[in-house]
Amino acid sequence: MLDTSTPFSTLIRSATEQQHAEAEHSTFMKDLLTGQLGVEAFYRYTSQLWFVYSALEKHSAALVSDPVAGPFVKPELNRLAALEADLAHLGGPRWRDELTALHTTAAYAARIEECATQWPAGYVVHHYTRYLGDLSGGQVIRGTAEKLWDLPKKGDGVRFYVFDQITNPAAFKRDYREALDALPIEGADVDRVLDEARLAFTMNTNVFRDLGAEFSARN
Ligand code: HEM
Repeated sequence: MLDTSTPFSTLIRSATEQQHAEAEHSTFMKDLLTGQLGVEAFYRYTSQLWFVYSALEKHSAALVSDPVAGPFVKPELNRLAALEADLAHLGGPRWRDELTALHTTAAYAARIEECATQWPAGYVVHHYTRYLGDLSGGQVIRGTAEKLWDLPKKGDGVRFYVFDQITNPAAFKRDYREALDALPIEGADVDRVLDEARLAFTMNTNVFRDLGAEFSARN
């Protein structure tokens, strides 16, 4: 039985806590962040993020006026331009030709788009899973990547992790959680939305699993 007095931001965090730990400690992430994989693995991972953020950001113009998703759609979060600068740095001028989605990435991006066009509350879940994570653990990834592959500090290669229009991330995250708590969802919809959050984490882990397979196979 759900305790309806629990704020939604707490519910979604608790519902995905275990999966968050699994994603954080996945073999691919661990190998990537302990320097066991080369910068080409970081490039490939960044290229997968391009598909995810294309899907997240493609429908912003339509979603900004949506009563449910609208409060979450903010230009200061947009990551696509930063990802493109990173990919150009990591992959050189041919990055666009080299851009291919793993099938788990394609499925993840397709699900985001499905939500973006048909289920705004589901879209919010995917938005939360990515952007709030980027504002948190993403900062760990940035610092490690800069050191491991000698990338310019907060520059090309790691721009995805730099939110230069968000001067106070802690305050931003606080406001974001308040917006989550104000979501007009109740009853069975709460369960549906929490299930979508678990799916969002599973889809991220699936991408890590495929990336892990791709790179361990080369070693
Ligand atoms: C190396 C990998 C990762 C590290 C080191 C990491 C680390 C963290 C840390 C330290 C926080 C806590 C921030 C806080 O309390 O304000 C956090 C929050 C979060 N992370 Fe991660 N994370 C990683 C991977 C991921 C992945 C793969 C996802 C999902 C795609 C994710 C999604 C989130 C979300 C949604 C939050 C916000 C939780 C909430 O307060 O509601 N993280 N992460």
